[in-house]
Amino acid sequence: MVTTEQETRSSSASADEEFALRVEDLKVYYGTPRGTVKAVDGVSFNLKQGERFALVGESGSGKSTLAMAIMRLTREPGHIAGGHIYLNGRDVVDMPEREIRSIRLREMALVPQGAMNSLNPVMRVGDQIIDGILDHVMTDESPPSKSELDERIHELLIRVGLDPNVARLHPHELSGGMKQRVAMAIAISLDPNIIVADEPTSALDVVVQRQIMQTLGRLQEGLEAAVLLVGHDMGLVAQFADTIGVMYAGKLVEVGSVPDVFKDPKHPYTQLLIESLPSFDISRKFVGIPGMQPALLNLPPGCSFNPRCPSVHERCFREVPAFLPIDGRGVACHLYDGETSGVPPLAGEMSEGQRGAAN
Ligand SMILES: Nc1ncnc2c1ncn2[C@@H]1O[C@H](COP(=O)(O)OP(=O)(O)OP(=O)(O)O)[C@@H](O)[C@H]1O
Ligand code: SF4
Ligand SMILES: [Mg+2]
Repeated sequence: MVTTEQETRSSSASADEEFALRVEDLKVYYGTPRGTVKAVDGVSFNLKQGERFALVGESGSGKSTLAMAIMRLTREPGHIAGGHIYLNGRDVVDMPEREIRSIRLREMALVPQGAMNSLNPVMRVGDQIIDGILDHVMTDESPPSKSELDERIHELLIRVGLDPNVARLHPHELSGGMKQRVAMAIAISLDPNIIVADEPTSALDVVVQRQIMQTLGRLQEGLEAAVLLVGHDMGLVAQFADTIGVMYAGKLVEVGSVPDVFKDPKHPYTQLLIESLPSFDISRKFVGIPGMQPALLNLPPGCSFNPRCPSVHERCFREVPAFLPIDGRGVACHLYDGETSGVPPLAGEMSEGQRGAAN
């Protein structure tokens, strides 16, 4: 779902109720000896209940930083430097840790990047699931009985496509795909309505990747949850998601429905990402994306994509493009704000400005 800064600012309490997740002008920075890394810099988007939103972008564009901030799991040297994150209508940015703990797993759950390696190697699978559940029992609640927990583990393992006997096994006895399913069982153990899955299929082979995505889809449907799926593989996430957000150097540069974005990508970076997807059409020329994402500590002035953009204009070196609504989606690019329409891009291989910005 697309929102501009203005729209999110003017939205009311009723909008909060409509959206499972509302991120508004979020900034997450890392303080480093070399300076401040603006890993997430003014990101806004909304997720309705039951919506599947995929976030894509190159390595280092800020996807995991955003995912962790939504879970309020940002760790030093990172901090949330501004903005709001409304989970089921409540802003969690300044929420006390005790309160956050009470909504993790119950309302929002994370399948973290590298989840399959985050399981405790010396604990049986069943005990790890129990740990997650007991960790989130409220002080005023009586803990579930042993038989209730056993029943819950049985049901959870079946839901993620595993044999219930897996509860007795240790992680080293499981394949990568099985470990990822265990991580998903822990995430859904208290029926959250928002699931953040950070690259849940990385390091798995293609067949297992598709099976895991199908399982995530079934879980999402069963819980009617909103899902934020972080991924590198645009083709894979597109098969899962309703909406796609493209991140570049800490900012969302395009958000729209999957069919719209694939049919008619607006942002030059999205266009290149889609053109670079492998195609079954062998006559189609493979197009890579020129250059590298700039270091976040040393971003060029103006639009961060200017050193690599084939449509770059002079003003792209001076002005940061605003995120504006266009044809039912949001795009941050000067090509669509009226002023640049009709002005030809800078000609030649690489302009002086691009050379300067890239250095
Ligand atoms: N602990 C940290 N200290 C300093 N900078 C960090 C830290 N963690 C991340 N960063 C910086 O924040 C930026 C975003 O990192 P992040 O892990 O969010 O990217 P990502 O899009 O998830 O990448 P990937 O696709 O490789 O997982 C990177 O440029 C990285 O240098
Ligand atoms: S603002 Fe300019 S440099 Fe940035 S993507 Fe658009 S055309 Fe390219
Ligand atoms: Mg990441």
